[in-house]
Amino acid sequence: MAQAEDVKSKLDIVEVIREYIPVKAVGANFQAICPFHNEKSPSFVISPDKQIWHCFGCGRGGDVFSFVMEKEGLGFMEAMRLLAPKAGVTLKNENPEEYSKRNRFLDILELAGKYYAYNLTNSTNKNALNYLTKRGLKEETIKEWQIGSSSESWDSLYNFLKARPLSGQKFTDDEMFQAGVILKRDPAKGQRGYFDRFRDRIMFPIWDVNNNLIAFTARVNPEKEKTEKMGKYINSPQSAVYDKSRVLFALNKAKTAIRKLDLAIVVEGQMDAISCHQAGFTNVVASSGTALTREQVTLLKRFTTNIALSFDMDDAGQMAADRGIKEVLAQEMSLKIIVLPYGKDPDECLKNNPADFKKAVEEAKPMLEYYFNKVSEGLDLSELDNKNIVSSKMLSMIALVVNNVERDYWLKKVANDLDINEVILRESLEKSLAAASSAAAQNSDKKKENTTPLQNLSREEKLSELLLSLLIKFPDFLSYVISNLEPELLAGLENIGFYKNLIIYYNKVAILDYKAFHAYLDENGQGEEKLLEKLILLGEKDFYNYETAQVKSEIIKIIIELKKYSYQKEIKKIEKQLLESEKKGEEANTIKLMDELKNLTDKIKKINLD
Ligand code: CTP
Ligand code: MN
Repeated sequence: MAQAEDVKSKLDIVEVIREYIPVKAVGANFQAICPFHNEKSPSFVISPDKQIWHCFGCGRGGDVFSFVMEKEGLGFMEAMRLLAPKAGVTLKNENPEEYSKRNRFLDILELAGKYYAYNLTNSTNKNALNYLTKRGLKEETIKEWQIGSSSESWDSLYNFLKARPLSGQKFTDDEMFQAGVILKRDPAKGQRGYFDRFRDRIMFPIWDVNNNLIAFTARVNPEKEKTEKMGKYINSPQSAVYDKSRVLFALNKAKTAIRKLDLAIVVEGQMDAISCHQAGFTNVVASSGTALTREQVTLLKRFTTNIALSFDMDDAGQMAADRGIKEVLAQEMSLKIIVLPYGKDPDECLKNNPADFKKAVEEAKPMLEYYFNKVSEGLDLSELDNKNIVSSKMLSMIALVVNNVERDYWLKKVANDLDINEVILRESLEKSLAAASSAAAQNSDKKKENTTPLQNLSREEKLSELLLSLLIKFPDFLSYVISNLEPELLAGLENIGFYKNLIIYYNKVAILDYKAFHAYLDENGQGEEKLLEKLILLGEKDFYNYETAQVKSEIIKIIIELKKYSYQKEIKKIEKQLLESEKKGEEANTIKLMDELKNLTDKIKKINLD
């Protein structure tokens, strides 16, 4: 597909991957801890030169598209939609067949967002607009966040969408329903058809980290807030494009500032986040009124390891923070708590005086300090009972801290503050840790079941791959290896097939050029070009700094080992036959087999290369 090639050529694979995981330059290439399986040392390699990646731990690999598809769980066209804007390419939907369902939902939501925003400023009813202005939002802010309003009518959005098909195909009722913007009338009441989900509300679009509008959160008409009993906010339902627990409001706008400042401020409400951005705090995201989930923390971790929570000072807000805190600590992030000097939420504090919010951010307390103050509030710490209560609560938190030095620091501090023996505290912590680690072990077992198993290559297979990758990287040794190693001595059918193709190709052109060989395999091989991509990265990963002499000695070592393996396999086979033959009393055959065995053992001893 021409568009895909265009997108690929305009993107730097390293930069795209860097948005998801930390990558490190090693030689001419980049390495990372693989995001697709559990590992401690990096086996994930990216070649900026070839614009490909491969993980030698789990065997996954490919180009920038396959990375994004795998990481985001997207189909090809969906990855295209994500990557095209990064590449500055405008997508033309030449082929509606390829246009995925998900993209259709996104189209519906995008269009609905435009409709609501238009409605806010152009409808005769200016209630919503006046309310937002009164709350201190500037005109540019309203525009930038595409804040809108839904009308009181039962079907204005529905009719609007019906009349405006994008990508050449009308939206069906079912598509609009699945995108979450319309609801079915109740057939039990004899009703038919659909109606708008959001009516007479202030509409806040929610974007995912890649700027797709995926949902709305809708605030009740302020006029009705006092008189009618209805939810202050209603939200889009979970859908194919919206999973509440995986989204952070405003992350699309905040991600650059978060990375730059190396800090993410997490607030609860949409209005809080918008006010913060308007006041210049552009590293703010909102959790939308719930505790941070594991997925949200993972998402933030792409941009920073420092989080500061500024949750509402009411009880619900504090409870939400407590659950989020565990997730943050469990993912080895440093966590601070912002304590507002007054006001129920950041929005109120900012409206009064932005400098006060700034000060609160600067003075944010490390989570454990904050927690200590909280659990000991109003308690007389000289009483034994209270010491017990506070220390057990603190230990359960300290046990979540992954960094040893930090854990030690807090342990000392708690022992000191409570005036209890540090040794005793440490012993109880060790017990909590043991309990926690057995829970963690169970967790990681579960994780393993979910990911594809690690590549379980035999040693011969690994050696065969290494040898081939050396050859690709240092083709000067090709003729030497070809004359010293028959294809059948390699392990792994794929490796043998690849090597045979390599020999044929090399004999034809007497020179090995990556691109040309790739094209050759594409045409003549049976999918070996994938193996070529993997091999080239393996060579870059393991031998990027090898000198010619080292290469030669490595190649010789591997060939010797492969030969040994092959003879040993043969020996095992003969030993088996020998046993059978002795059992059956076939003397002549036994003698013949013993001869062969001796031959082979001699051969092993004598393996030597010129
Ligand atoms: N929320 C929700 N459903 C509700 C109430 C709240 O989804 N019934 C979410 C919204 O995302 C909201 C956040 O929780 O932004 C915080 O709720 P709250 O503090 O009640 O609202 P505020 O952000 O303070 O809203 P406002 O300032 O407009 O009153
Ligand atoms: Mn508020």
